Amino acid sequence: MLSILAIAAVAGSVRAAPWTNEHGLIERDQTSASSWSNQWQPDANGVVHYGFNATFNQGYWNASQIRTAYRGCNGMSVSWSTNGRNVVPTVLYGTSNSSLNWTATSSVSITYETSLKWENHVVLENLEPNTKYYYSVCGSPVNSFTTARCAGDMTPYTAAVVVDMGAMGEYGLRHNLPSDISNPIPANQTNTIQRLVAQMDDYEFVVHPGDMAYADYWVKEQVTHGSNLTLTDQVLGYNAINDAFFNEVAEVASKKAYMVGVGNHEANCINGGYKQYPEAICTAGLTNFTEYKVRWNMPGDGSASNNFWYSFDVGMAHYLIFDTETDLPPPYYGADVIGGVAGMYESNVGAYPTAQVDFIKQDLASVNRTQTPWVIAMGHRPWYVSAAPEDRFMSGLAVFEPLFEAANVDVVMQGHVHLISRSYPVHQNGTVQQYNYTEPQAPVYLVNGAAGHYDGLDKEYTPLYDYIAFANDTMYSYSKLTFHNSTHLTHQFMASGDNSVIDAITIEKTH
Ligand SMILES: [Fe+2]
Repeated sequence: MLSILAIAAVAGSVRAAPWTNEHGLIERDQTSASSWSNQWQPDANGVVHYGFNATFNQGYWNASQIRTAYRGCNGMSVSWSTNGRNVVPTVLYGTSNSSLNWTATSSVSITYETSLKWENHVVLENLEPNTKYYYSVCGSPVNSFTTARCAGDMTPYTAAVVVDMGAMGEYGLRHNLPSDISNPIPANQTNTIQRLVAQMDDYEFVVHPGDMAYADYWVKEQVTHGSNLTLTDQVLGYNAINDAFFNEVAEVASKKAYMVGVGNHEANCINGGYKQYPEAICTAGLTNFTEYKVRWNMPGDGSASNNFWYSFDVGMAHYLIFDTETDLPPPYYGADVIGGVAGMYESNVGAYPTAQVDFIKQDLASVNRTQTPWVIAMGHRPWYVSAAPEDRFMSGLAVFEPLFEAANVDVVMQGHVHLISRSYPVHQNGTVQQYNYTEPQAPVYLVNGAAGHYDGLDKEYTPLYDYIAFANDTMYSYSKLTFHNSTHLTHQFMASGDNSVIDAITIEKTH
C-alpha cells in the first residue's frame, strides 16, 4: 500500500498541469498540442508507460457526442466534443428547424491532460418551459430538445433511469465475451442504449447516476478479454472506450436531457487497480474524476463539485443527485477517496468536508411539496440491495439514510450492484416499515445496476433480506418512473431486450 502511494506521489510530481482554470481544469490552446504530446513519457520509476501522437489537423471543430441537460425549466445546457478548442462555442437555435435565429455562446471549451477532445459547454437561457427547440452546434445537423416542465406542472410524465450502462458492442457489452462472464448479451438482442433510442417517445428525460462508459476497463479489454482492439496504451484505450460510449449515447442525449451522477468507474484510469497494474499507472488526467468533471455540465453551483451533487425539478417531482464516491462527512469517507472502501486515492471535491451533506440538508428542507410532492434521491452505491453484506455501502447508510427519512424522501434509486432489486419501505437499519406500498412512511429503495456492465450481471444474494421484495439477476434492464399525480407513482423495471415489464409497483402516497 505504501509503495503504491509513494509511486503515485513521485509520478504526480512530474505531471504539473500547464494551464489550469479556476476549477483546476486545463484550458489549452491548440497551438500547444505538439509540445504537450511529448511530455507523457515513462517516468524515472518506469511506472508510467504511454505516449501518443494526436492528429489535430482534421475535423478540428466538428461537433460530436452532443449531450443536453436541464437547466431549470427556462434553460438548457448543451455540451459537445470537438478535436480542437473553440474560442467561442456557439449554439444556434429556434422554435422551427428552418429558422435557428437565436445564438447562445460561451467561452467554455476545456480539456485535460491526455484527452483527445475538447469539451464545449453552452447554457441557453430564457427559454419557454416544456417547449421544443431546434438547434445546431458547430455546423452539426439540426437537432431538437424539449425543455423541462416547471415545478408545479402536474401533467403526468415518465422518466427513464439507467445505471452502470457502459459502452455497447466492440468496446463494451457484447455477445462474444469469455465464458466466465455471466449473462453476456445474446446475439441480436437489443441492448439498453438501443432500447432507449427505440423507446424515445416513452420518456421525457434520462437520469444516469454513475458508471458511464467504463473507460477504465481499457486494460481489462487488452489483458483479459482479448478483443480485436489493440489498446496499446491507456490514453488511446481510455479515449476509445469513452468515444464509443459517448457516440452511442448521443443518440439519446442530444435529444433528451441526460442528467448524470458520479460512480466509481469515473474515478480514475483503472478502477483502483487491476491485476499487476496499480492505480499509480494513471496519468494526472485520468485520476480524480477529471474526465467526468470536464465532460458534463450539470446544474450545480459551478464549483468543482458541479456534477457531483445537485438537484432539479421536473413537473411534480424534485430530484436530488447525491455522491457516494467522495465527500462524506467525517468520520466517514466517500468510497473512492483515501480511506474509502474502494481502496482508491482520489480527492474530495467539496469546498469543505461537510459541503455535500450541508447541501442535501438545505435542499431537502427547501422542497415545496405542494409544487413537487414527489422527492426522488439518486446516487450510485446502494445499501439496501440484494447483495452480500460487504457489497452494501454502509457509510452511505449512515450518512444519507437519516437525511432521506427525515425529509420524507419517497424513492431512492441506485445501481453499482449489477442486478435489479426492489425493497419494501424501509426504516433505518433495515427495519421494514410495511410490506406494501400504500401510504408508506419510509423510503423505497430501487436498485437497477443492470443496464449493461460488460462483465455481465452479479448474482443476487440469497436468502433475500427481509427488506427485499423482488430481485432479478438475469436480465439487462432500464427503469421507468411514471408520475401519475400527487398520490400515485409507478416504477417499472423494463427488459432492455424486448421492452417487457420485469417488475412493477405503484406507490400510493398522500403528500
Ligand atoms: Fe459502480
